[in-house]
Amino acid sequence: VLEKECREHHKRFFTVQEKKRPYIILKWAQTKDGFIAPKTKNFQKPVWISNQYSRQLVHKFRAQEQAILVGTKTVLDDNPSLNLRDWFGNHPVRIVLDKDLKIPQNLAVYDKSVKTIFITDIKNMHTSSENIFFEEIDFNQKIANQICDILQKYQIQSVIIEGGTKTIQTFIDENLWDEARVFESDFTLKNGTKAPILAGKVISEIDIKNDILKIYSND
Ligand SMILES: NC(=O)c1ccc[n+]([C@@H]2O[C@H](COP(=O)([O-])OP(=O)(O)OC[C@H]3O[C@@H](n4cnc5c(N)ncnc54)[C@H](OP(=O)(O)O)[C@@H]3O)[C@@H](O)[C@H]2O)c1
Repeated sequence: VLEKECREHHKRFFTVQEKKRPYIILKWAQTKDGFIAPKTKNFQKPVWISNQYSRQLVHKFRAQEQAILVGTKTVLDDNPSLNLRDWFGNHPVRIVLDKDLKIPQNLAVYDKSVKTIFITDIKNMHTSSENIFFEEIDFNQKIANQICDILQKYQIQSVIIEGGTKTIQTFIDENLWDEARVFESDFTLKNGTKAPILAGKVISEIDIKNDILKIYSND
């Protein structure tokens, strides 16, 4: 009875059971001409590409997943908190790539307010507080697969990967993703960090004022 709908409703659980990895959602915002950020900026905050309604929806998306993952450069450039502010629910566990542990400890991801796992290739790093964890992978091998194993170890059933391009492309290239939620704005940047390249089926398009949210499936 309603098999398709039931599978959709239980997609996180089924992915863990059948694929032995969490359900993976890629999310980014891009300009009309395909950029996710300007080349340079002189402040350590995000440059907002999508509108305020899209950004609130992103907070709802965060509330629906157990973890949120970002790359090193996104943390260094934007100092994101990666928590829930414009929606209600639990903060997702923060997963941060930091091969050389170069992210300064005064940045928000180290504020200990939320469980945060740093993925590094520095050996024998120990937990420094009840909310800060370090997990070692081999950055010379494919990393998305190893990250999935770590998420499994922490019993994380779903993750939303919020950028930047290099990090998202890593999961696309290893074919480790289930859904992509791409916000397209109506303005151009002309240059900057290019958006990830994705070949997937668009399963829905939603107008959010002057943004379009395209949802891709990797089925
Ligand atoms: N519009 C949006 O939705 C959005 C969202 C998030 C971020 N952004 C913007 O995106 C920009 C950053 O994007 P980005 O693509 O340059 O960087 P990124 O993905 O945030 O971080 C890249 C870094 O993460 C590590 N990394 C990621 N994948 C790796 C892999 N496969 N193997 C080894 N290391 C890997 C590397 O760190 P090491 O350097 O230590 O090797 C790499 O330099 C920022 O300007 C930010 O503002 C935009």
